[in-house]
Amino acid sequence: MTEKRFKRTTVTSALPYANGGVHIGHLAGVYVPADIYVRYLRLKKEDVLFIGGSDEHGVPITVRARKEGITPQDVVDRYHKMIKDSFREFGISFDIYSRTTSETHHKFAAEWFRKLYDEGKLVEETTKQLYDEEAKQFLADRYVTGECPHCHNEGAYGDQCEKCGRDLSPTELINPKSTISGSTPVLKETKNWYLPLNEYQDWLKQWILEEHKEWRPNVYGQCKSWLDMDLQPRAMTRDLDWGIPVPVEGADGKVLYVWFDAPIGYVSNTKELCEKEPEKWGDWQKWWQDEDTRLVHFIGKDNIVFHCIIFPVMMKAWNEAERRTSPLGGTERGFILPDNVPANEFLNLENDKISTSRNWAIWLHEYLEDMPGKQDVLRYVLTANAPETKDNNFTWKDFQDRNNNELVAVYGNFVNRALQLTKKYWDGVVPACGEWLDVDRQAVNEFKDVKQKVETLLDQFKFRDAQFEAMNLARIGNRYITECEPWKVWKTDPKRCETILNICLQLTANLAIAFEPFLPFSSKKLREMLNMESFEWDQLGSTDLLSAGHQLGEASLLFEKIDDDVIQKQLDKLEATKKANEAAQYKAAPVKDTVSFEDFEKLDIRVGLIKDCQKVKKSKKLLQFTIDDGTGTDRTILSGIAAFYDDPSVLVGKRILFVANFEPRKMMGIESQGMILSAVDFDESLSVVTTTKDVKPGSQVG
Ligand code: MF3
Ligand code: ZN
Repeated sequence: MTEKRFKRTTVTSALPYANGGVHIGHLAGVYVPADIYVRYLRLKKEDVLFIGGSDEHGVPITVRARKEGITPQDVVDRYHKMIKDSFREFGISFDIYSRTTSETHHKFAAEWFRKLYDEGKLVEETTKQLYDEEAKQFLADRYVTGECPHCHNEGAYGDQCEKCGRDLSPTELINPKSTISGSTPVLKETKNWYLPLNEYQDWLKQWILEEHKEWRPNVYGQCKSWLDMDLQPRAMTRDLDWGIPVPVEGADGKVLYVWFDAPIGYVSNTKELCEKEPEKWGDWQKWWQDEDTRLVHFIGKDNIVFHCIIFPVMMKAWNEAERRTSPLGGTERGFILPDNVPANEFLNLENDKISTSRNWAIWLHEYLEDMPGKQDVLRYVLTANAPETKDNNFTWKDFQDRNNNELVAVYGNFVNRALQLTKKYWDGVVPACGEWLDVDRQAVNEFKDVKQKVETLLDQFKFRDAQFEAMNLARIGNRYITECEPWKVWKTDPKRCETILNICLQLTANLAIAFEPFLPFSSKKLREMLNMESFEWDQLGSTDLLSAGHQLGEASLLFEKIDDDVIQKQLDKLEATKKANEAAQYKAAPVKDTVSFEDFEKLDIRVGLIKDCQKVKKSKKLLQFTIDDGTGTDRTILSGIAAFYDDPSVLVGKRILFVANFEPRKMMGIESQGMILSAVDFDESLSVVTTTKDVKPGSQVG
């Protein structure tokens, strides 16, 4: 592939859903790497735009609002602010952080849809979807649960069974239930508009599989597995009352699919920024529709298909529509496609999947409270463990080790030695550099290499390795200072000591530059300690960043050791979460509606003695019971509980309860005369109900 020189870079980072805070998984997966990249480009004086914002539509937000008894707008207002604050505190340096409820965005997303609609780029289709009559809304796949038709897991979701892993569609579920109201949904016809992804399949194959073989293997691989299947048209509208109204007549009660509007948010937010500061940023098209602009999307792996397949098709469809309507014909600017999509895998927490619903996460707002001023420590650890090629794990022990053994013992220690010695011997004034000896030359050569190494790695989105190389500068420094022992040389040869310290200070200044993209707070602090006004990437590797006679600023510690008790507190907090989750599992279901005594009396519940119990052939679920019910004739009852009794013979001789007047039903050719009562435990295991005394078969229960 030919290397293309670009004039500028548009960097986007996935817009987080505004229905919760942000945690370390978000930071490690998307925002820290994006921020490192952007800071690096800025330091190189390149033209770069960094877009962020909150994703404020979609079903989960409406569900949360309903649960809390507030409006969806209340939900997004609360979390937008919280997320925005967290990002600012962690130094994620967006040029704009806006939101998809903004007016600019609503208008622009509607315009985009309308353009595709007008030019026949969308396919209209009427289908039957599950509808919750109680909640009065169509149900997104995730909001329907029921029995999996394949493995008969009772808790399968409308899009997937988590037990057997099969993809499902909600209409396949046996005995579906709405998770919103608990009622049984009905099928109802509805009209929606689809993006015919199938029509773009060949084009996508060429563009990704042929022209972007350099993408990360996890990204390329996921795209390939999608493109090896037949792509299906995908609905771009939803029946929902929260979102951007579908700008078409007769589409009342419908909104744009959240994954249609959210990526458009990147462009809307650019538009908002360009309209606010046109002198600084120019027009939005410069960032999205100019061949000389490079587009890079930072996302997590669950977003790959949306950014590599759906959004590009939306952009392509726009371009085609634009060309048809343009008075100039086919030559004008259209959307550029992403040049790269460096998606990360997932970060686990203490060997367990991060989960918002189980509160298994380290929330940024809580971290800031517990570890004030330690933003860079978290940035460092998350980059050192970045899940770039595979899922990775965060542990508090590793956090402590990396802080104490790397940031404090390597980086902080070197800087501190250089600054303290300068203060002690020269009152904090940079000493002059004399002639270099071999040992100096060697150290300087080594650290000159670092610039090229870090650059190459950052250009390839290898942030973990790049940070490691930056840390090497400090390792080189420590080795050098230990070898040269300036504190000894000072007594015997002060001139020589000046040279050593000068080199150490130059190295320190280099560290401030090299770490700026990774640890911006520490770099700023170090820059102030060195009393440097500014710096740029090109100075990296230089040995005259600080001239002789330059007065340094006030020295203080860059990093502090973290003690065991601080870490223990965090571990205790997680332990408490685990306990709370376990306790929460044992919550009894709400009591059903009251019934009258007459209603209760209609049930004829009796004691039965199990004479025999066998698995029904060819059925995974059914047990066949032969019951002595006191009438003198055996009664046959079938019950779908085979999964809970590996050896049904253990039931023989037990007294159980059964509903004697339950409507007879035929299953697998056998008539079942009644229903056996079982208790369903919270973990969904099950036990038949027995008596504590040998009550006679046929006794009535009431
Ligand atoms: N809100 C989505 C998520 O958290 C990401 C949206 S990215 C965008 O998974 F492109 F759509 F904005
Ligand atoms: Zn299943």
